[in-house]
Formats: sequence, structure tokens, C-alpha cells
Amino acid sequence: MNKPRGILMAGNWKMNSGLDETAKFFEGLRLQLGGLQMLGHGLQACVFPPATSLDRAMKMSAGTPVLVGAQNVHWEKKGAFTGEISGPFLKEMGISWALTGHSERRQYFGETDETVRKRTESLLEQGFRVVMCVGETRAEREANQTLAVLTKQLSATLLPAGPLGPARPAGKGPSTYLDGRLVIAYEPVWAIGTGLTASPGQAEEAHQAIRKFLWDQFGMEAAGRTPILYGGSVTPENADGLLSCANIDGALVGGASIKPESFMALLKAGEKALSA
Ligand code: PGA
Repeated sequence: MNKPRGILMAGNWKMNSGLDETAKFFEGLRLQLGGLQMLGHGLQACVFPPATSLDRAMKMSAGTPVLVGAQNVHWEKKGAFTGEISGPFLKEMGISWALTGHSERRQYFGETDETVRKRTESLLEQGFRVVMCVGETRAEREANQTLAVLTKQLSATLLPAGPLGPARPAGKGPSTYLDGRLVIAYEPVWAIGTGLTASPGQAEEAHQAIRKFLWDQFGMEAAGRTPILYGGSVTPENADGLLSCANIDGALVGGASIKPESFMALLKAGEKALSA
């Protein structure tokens, strides 16, 4: 296999698909899953429906290798946090995947590096697999700040202490989980929902920089074991080029993950990359 970390195809449904659409998605997908050879063996699929559709998604995906995760989870386990949901609630439903740090949460809901760190850390400690998003805006890319922004976001969320990282007790922190349990998603903000995909070259350059950061800070094993997904206008048409890059271990897909046909086409692209 030329993809040492396998391929993870993650579907971020955002605020789309209520109960009926969620059921229809899985009905459609189930019919086609038999056409995949590697699902659950090198190829992983995980969808992130809205919170109210999670239970339906869990029931409809039962007996398939398709995983289900939550889009936004609070760092506390319970309490006075109106509107939030917690890790233990998700665990009760059998859910063990979550997204953190999505740029829409950062842009519209006041998410900061600090709250991303808190959510990520708490979820990992509770045994979740976490897909943590980082990425630069268009203005930051045009100002040649892409790598600086990635370093800042990764430092603030992963480094234990020091000038860039927030202080925390020794031995704690998301970096403890750089063995595949923490997944990083590189999502350039200018490419999300815009139809403007980063070219494979642009994406690979950012992925290499993220892997180098992990290597420099946490060593070869952490860098080698941490999957890095690309996200931003990924479609079945452009997936092959992106997934053929050495440091791209899958994709976090919004619009093209909502319909079963196109999610299936993305899973097939994942298989193709795995067998190349
Ligand atoms: P998009 O969204 O594929 O619709 O651009 C990606 C994301 O926001 O994760």
C-alpha cells in the first residue's frame, strides 16, 4: 500500500440533512457499499451530520463500516452551557469521532485557538478520535502568511507550553495523541464552499509543512502516524489529483459528501489512491 496511514474520507454535512435526508443518504449508500473492497481495511469513511441527525445516522449505519461523528462538542462533560452537547452524551449514542476547529466555527461562532485546544484535548482524553481543522484565509495566503498561520494554529493547540503555546500540566495535551487518534485537516478558508480548490501542489506544500512541524516538535513517529486530510471544495472530479500526493491522507469534504452517489464516488477515489 502506498498510503502508509491509509485513507480517511470524512464528510462534514454542516447544517444540512435532517432525519429524512439522513435516512435516505444511508439507504442510498448501503446499496453501493458492496462495490468497495477496502472499506474498513485501509479506507475509512466517517460522516459528521448535524447533532439532531446523529441518532438516526447511527441507527442507519449499523452493520456497515461507515463511522459517524459530531461537528461540535463542548469541552466540559455537563453543566450550564446552553446549546452545547458533551462527549458523554455522544458516547451514550456510540459516537466516538468529532470535528474541532472548523473555520466556520472560528469565523461565525467565536471559536479561538484556545477553545479549539480545550475541545480537542477534552475529546481526546475522553477517548474520541478528533479531526482538528487548521487553515489560512485568502488574505493570509496573499500576504504569504500561510505557513506562519499554520504554525501559529498548530502551536497554540498542540504545544505544551512556551512562548507560543498555552501553559498546561506536563504530560497532558493533544500532542499525547499523535498516534493516529488526532487527525489534522488542512482546510484553506478560501477554498471552502467556493469551488476554488487548492491545487495538489499547493495542498501538498501545506501538508508537508504540517508534517515537518509535527516532526520538529514531536519526532518522527508522531509525524509519520498522524493523518493529515485536505479540505476545501473536494469533489469526485478533483479527488484523484489531491489523494495522489504523498502527504495527503484523505479528505474532509463538505458539499460533495451530502449525496450518497458523490460520497460513494469519493470513497472509490480513496480506493484508487490506496491501490495506486
Ligand atoms: P466544502 O467544505 O467541501 O463544501 O468546500 C469543506 C469543509 O468545510 O470541511
